[in-house]
Amino acid sequence: MSKIAIMGAMPEEIEPIITKLDDLNVVEYAANKYYEGSYHGKKVVVAYSKIGKVFATLTATSLIEKFGCDTLLFSGVAGAISEDLHIGDLIIADGLCQHDLDITAFGHPYGYVPEGEVCIPTDEKLREVAKKVAKAKGLPLKEGIIATGDQFVADHERKEWIGKTFHADALEMEGAAVAVVCSSLDVPYFILRAISDSADMDASFNFDEFLESSAKISADFILAMVEEI
Ligand code: ADE
Repeated sequence: MSKIAIMGAMPEEIEPIITKLDDLNVVEYAANKYYEGSYHGKKVVVAYSKIGKVFATLTATSLIEKFGCDTLLFSGVAGAISEDLHIGDLIIADGLCQHDLDITAFGHPYGYVPEGEVCIPTDEKLREVAKKVAKAKGLPLKEGIIATGDQFVADHERKEWIGKTFHADALEMEGAAVAVVCSSLDVPYFILRAISDSADMDASFNFDEFLESSAKISADFILAMVEEI
């Protein structure tokens, strides 16, 4: 039977999920807690990584290598770059890039290191499941590039630069790390984010105000997807 990993970065991003699980069992591993359980008869393992690419890499790898998950769904919040995206709106990544990865001094493009790729695509079948769920719920769902970096972006110029350089519609701090892990280990993965702020001068206030509500919008959507996988 398939085992689905559901990952967030912060407690608020997984809380609405773990409260809905049956047969809950908590396992401590690598200085973190992993919540094993089931949802509508599907086996799941849920964890939040803590913020940033390094912790996200550790958690995604653990979910796959230690807990045996064969599909990974990420749920959380993001800052909007696209003007089409407003607080609470959902975006799925068709690809992820690292906006803070820079060896341009050696003539490479931003976000690129040798033997890597600037933009890592997500699993098409999981995106199709998401579109089906969105249609059934009557929810608009944007699809686009999500840019990841170890920075909370609260600056108009930086946000515009990321948008222009990577053609990105939203930004956050974990997705591309999950993409590197899952594509390297050949595990289908999916990144969903609900907008919490616009990565501008008001971003930290908006983030504090809307983290919980936007995280719940994303988590509810992910649970609906689990039923369809
Ligand atoms: N996640 C949500 N909002 C963000 C922002 N403004 N910068 C980085 N990550 C985020």
